[in-house]
Amino acid sequence: MTEPRLALSRADFPPAFLFGAATSAYQIEGHGTGGAGVCEWDTFAATPGNVARAEDGRVACDHYHRFAGDLDLCAGAGFDAYRFSTSWARVMPEGRGAVNAAGLDFYDRLVDAACERGLKPFLTLYHWELPAALADLGGWRNRDIAGWFGDFATVVGRRIGDRVHAAAPINEPWCIAWLSHFIGQHAPGLRDIRATARAMHHVGLAHGTAIAALRGLGMGNLGAVINLEYPLPADDSPAAAAAAARYDAIYNRFFLSGMLAGRYPDAVLAGLGPHLPERWQDDFATIAAPLDWVGLNYYTCKRIAAADGPWPNCAERPGPLPKTDIGWEIYPDGLFDFLTRIWREHTGDLPLYVTENGIATAGIDDRARIAYLDAHLDAARRAIAAGVPLRGYFVWSLLDNYEWSLGYDKRFGIVEVDFDSQTRRPKASWRALRAALAG
Ligand code: FCB
Repeated sequence: MTEPRLALSRADFPPAFLFGAATSAYQIEGHGTGGAGVCEWDTFAATPGNVARAEDGRVACDHYHRFAGDLDLCAGAGFDAYRFSTSWARVMPEGRGAVNAAGLDFYDRLVDAACERGLKPFLTLYHWELPAALADLGGWRNRDIAGWFGDFATVVGRRIGDRVHAAAPINEPWCIAWLSHFIGQHAPGLRDIRATARAMHHVGLAHGTAIAALRGLGMGNLGAVINLEYPLPADDSPAAAAAAARYDAIYNRFFLSGMLAGRYPDAVLAGLGPHLPERWQDDFATIAAPLDWVGLNYYTCKRIAAADGPWPNCAERPGPLPKTDIGWEIYPDGLFDFLTRIWREHTGDLPLYVTENGIATAGIDDRARIAYLDAHLDAARRAIAAGVPLRGYFVWSLLDNYEWSLGYDKRFGIVEVDFDSQTRRPKASWRALRAALAG
């Protein structure tokens, strides 16, 4: 049987274009080891009904002990960059005050190990493991989180900022705020519009505070990582078109507009306005601090219909396209449209990255992943041809890992992980990438 290959290769992209693989701390490290503090995801997972099989990140991929081999696999595939995150609760177990020296040492060794292998480290400071002690104080609902986060940024930046190639404070503001406080699907599992409005605003404030802290340390190449989902009206009605536009404003435009233009879309203020903290307008000087790049995480589209009930009156409907193992429709044109739209409307000359893109699919002969990556790389290539200053593309993910509320059985890795033995096995997609990235 011939090995499946990607149709595209490095030669189809500009010479300095970076190919990378992405991971996050809680999803791979093993949070039960090395002195990490209890985080929101530990307690969320321990609460029945929140996570499939009540699985948590205590062991995960045991990357804390196996990072050297994992980085060998990353470099071995021919990647140029490695996107990882630091766990707030590992570095500062209570979220404030005392630093866990072993935690900080771990990230120091990790960054060195990436550099030694020729991988450019792309740091994300926060990918969702809020220290439980800060959750007790209201977490993202409490305005003080901006200062706490700025202090965490300073601690991390001081230690590894000299060696990271690029840094972003926060992964996916929408997930932290809306998915976790309005939909209730992620920790802390709230469903409350006031909590949501505050989290939406404070995530931006914390982002800007951290950017200022990192700049204060002399760090450059600082960006933001935003997740986008392409809303398509579920039917031909004007009501569905309006619902899809509301969804777009909440999901895609709120954070981009806040961080890049210093304002929130009217369509979101219509619902969240009354619940925002007082004098929120005064915070844009911080939230919209200048950035050096913007990263987009892109996976899928959604079919949106109008719904009865209070704002935002949106309902998701199933769509007709082929789906991944977690039911997400495969829609590469959404990536092209987003890249060109964001370039035109928000970022202009600012470098863009695709900081996450990938598919949940089972098995080691993962041809569906190869096809998915090919189609999305082609969308990226078309966007570059249209003039978009896209500088790199990161596959989600290097390893099979803890997929949050879905637990361990949804497989996003280009490397298979056996969670009983911790054995790693490169999949067909890893080999296809190695062939495409060679040279
Ligand atoms: C993104 C997250 C990442 C992973 C992928 C599938 O929203 O950033 O941690 O869960 O989705």
